[in-house]
Amino acid sequence: MKTRIVIIGGGPSGLLLSQLLHRRGIDSIVLERKTKDYVLSRIRAGVLERGIVKLMEEAGCADRLHAEGIPHDGTLVSYGDEMFRVDFTELTGTPVMVYGQTEVTRDLYEAREKAGGRIDFEVEDVQIHGADSDAPYVTYTVGGEAQRIDCDFIAGCDGFHGVSRQTIPLSVRTEYEKVYPFGWLGILSETPPVSEELIYANSSRGFALCSMRNPQLSRYYIQCSLSDSVNDWTDDAFWQELKRRIPSDVADKLVTGPSIEKSIAPLRSFVTEPMRWGRLFLCGDAAHIVPPTGAKGLNTAASDVHYLHEGLCQFYETGSNEGIDRYSEKALSRVWKAERFSWWFSSLLHRYPDQSPFDLKMQIAELEFLRSNKAAQKAMAENYVGLPY
Ligand code: FAD
Ligand code: DHB
Repeated sequence: MKTRIVIIGGGPSGLLLSQLLHRRGIDSIVLERKTKDYVLSRIRAGVLERGIVKLMEEAGCADRLHAEGIPHDGTLVSYGDEMFRVDFTELTGTPVMVYGQTEVTRDLYEAREKAGGRIDFEVEDVQIHGADSDAPYVTYTVGGEAQRIDCDFIAGCDGFHGVSRQTIPLSVRTEYEKVYPFGWLGILSETPPVSEELIYANSSRGFALCSMRNPQLSRYYIQCSLSDSVNDWTDDAFWQELKRRIPSDVADKLVTGPSIEKSIAPLRSFVTEPMRWGRLFLCGDAAHIVPPTGAKGLNTAASDVHYLHEGLCQFYETGSNEGIDRYSEKALSRVWKAERFSWWFSSLLHRYPDQSPFDLKMQIAELEFLRSNKAAQKAMAENYVGLPY
């Protein structure tokens, strides 16, 4: 087989890239290790920046997003029983959109299918060959049959545990990592959200987040220990703990119910540099991970897709290498700012095992500064709604 771009990974990065390229007449083949249902069952991000909304529009996939997504003009931040609001629209002119990653992925799959785009599911043993040559190709097996695709370029959109990053020799790549000493336990429940806007909560018992997917579907998270497993937490224990971490007047209004999904995610900051090796480009979680505080994971994956898509279009439409040559540098410049924001927002809101009384005072001072200072709020809001591409 032959195609212009082989895209490894059928998550949001791979699908969005494939659909955007298709709109500009550039063909690609997507290889996904899991089934479509499996990919769609992963509950992940919930807040979209304007940048990804615009990319979904450009991809011709934004109708449902505009019909069902909920624009949010601000967010609430609480500490103990205190709570304040940061107004994104007033401070930056831009709201964010609450619309789940699952829905983004569903819309992209639908568009790829409608366009007759090729996605091979349940592929195994994907291997990248000749990425540093002029004739790269990818081999894999599917349904027990060996396959080979020759291509111009390879997009590694295969997440943190994929093969693409590992294909880049260790002598070429540098990895930066910070592992946090806690995780997030998240549940999805068919209950009305406790608040119209998200609440990011700092409490003496640890972080909590009240989020949502729609007016009848809530998403809540609490900071948990890395040694906890989902089975340690009954629904009842989760609700009790959540109530202790949010202001009591909010807790009194919380509607609880059975969870329909429950999972634990570890928190990590990670970046690999460069994001390009020859004809292989890394996109999204394959190249970087942020702790989820601030919802930058999916949004940063989308900005990579934007830069790569622009570079590839420029290459095919004008013959210029400039966009692809500058891809890694441009993407990383924005990635590091998202890393900084996610690290800062995580540090502001979580309880760390080794936190001293001084450190706790610093957290409260910073929260009170944010509460009272418009310039600090503006800096936070600009990062939250997404820095420009
Ligand atoms: P992925 O979504 O990881 O997609 C990669 C795809 O590649 C997967 O479908 C995988 O099956 C496939 N793949 C992997 N290896 C291979 C292979 N060898 N061959 C073929 N296919 C392969 N972000 C937020 O903003 N908020 C959140 O609340 C949030 N929660 C998260 C919870 C968890 C448990 C995780 C893991 C991430 C979370 N994120 C969150 C981050 C966000 O979901 C990711 O940033 C986003 O999914 C990145 O998209 P991606 O397409 O780059 O990678
Ligand atoms: C969600 C997750 C986040 O990490 C975040 O900062 C906001 C919302 C969510 O899943 O709804």
